[in-house]
Amino acid sequence: MAKDINILAIETSCDETAAAVVRNGREVRSNIISSQIELHKLYGGVVPEIASRKHIEKINQVIEEAIKEAKVSLQDMDAIGVTCGPGLVGALLVGVAQAKAISFAIDRPLIGVHHIEGHICANYIENKDLEPPFLCLVVSGGHTHLVMVKDYGEYEVIGRTRDDAAGEAFDKVARAIGLGYPGGPQIDKLAREGNKEAIAFPRAQIEGAPYDFSFSGLKSAVLNHLNLLEMKKQDINPADIAASFQDAVVDVLVSRTIAAAKDYGMDKVAIAGGVAANSALREAMKTSCTNNSLKLYYPSPIYCTDNAAMIGTASYYEYLRGNFSGYDLNAIPNLKIGEAR
Ligand code: KG4
Ligand code: ZN
Repeated sequence: MAKDINILAIETSCDETAAAVVRNGREVRSNIISSQIELHKLYGGVVPEIASRKHIEKINQVIEEAIKEAKVSLQDMDAIGVTCGPGLVGALLVGVAQAKAISFAIDRPLIGVHHIEGHICANYIENKDLEPPFLCLVVSGGHTHLVMVKDYGEYEVIGRTRDDAAGEAFDKVARAIGLGYPGGPQIDKLAREGNKEAIAFPRAQIEGAPYDFSFSGLKSAVLNHLNLLEMKKQDINPADIAASFQDAVVDVLVSRTIAAAKDYGMDKVAIAGGVAANSALREAMKTSCTNNSLKLYYPSPIYCTDNAAMIGTASYYEYLRGNFSGYDLNAIPNLKIGEAR
């Protein structure tokens, strides 16, 4: 039998300090997440300096917990994987420096991972049958991409947002209707009490770019709707706004993903990133994929939002390809998918 490959993975690109031990790519032995959300809530969004400082305070403890819960020792690790971009530079640097130090100390290879490639790989954890090629919709706080996963570690971006990311739109609209940070989960909840047909919000289409997205017009439409009601001294109905806004986002995400899957002759579709935890998006994707004879894959909500297990899975496939990083690995805040690191 082949030897087990154990990877210690570290993720610190935004406001979660996370470490995980993943065996043979898809078996999560531990997945520790220390969230800073409560701290950033006070400011209505992530404050980069606070994020970096908290990562420094928490990182050792989170790694120790991950090792302990997995019932292994650092010496059992075959490689150290770490998110090196994109993300907040000061936050990324904490994880990268830590990973380098451990890799040097135990003399095991270092693997720099792209955060979005990690989100995509989250789909492998619970879907043991999923193998490339497939199409993946990645929707997070900072990114909205349609990615062709051609093979393990081989990606082609075929669509992207021209302005706001889907999660960013959720967070901004949530703030406008008086919900706290992060807004996505709260809109998801409130929308269940609202009428999604109450307000006809726009669905932007970009000429000549059928798989691209734009959410800034939708965000402005929500703000205009609120201003208009205020001027007319009419009551706002936050649940109807949440439901109508969410429906507009879900509508474009689903229709563009299905169109791309058909045009590219794909029979498998996956979703990933924080917004992939959205219940309306998951339901609409399930229905549309069934109607179009596409097999849908999605991670549990805990693997949709930021975590290190997904980084461990992505690291494993880079490990098999012999894609190791040198000790000159740096934090790259605007790292492109597929770019060397
Ligand atoms: O992937 P993620 O944890 O971090 C980034 O890489 O950005 O995504 C965070 C984003 C936030 O914008 C948050 O509001 C959104 O994902 N989000 C949701 C839901 N859960 C998290 N958006 C809509 N519905 C949800 N249930
Ligand atoms: Zn993320």
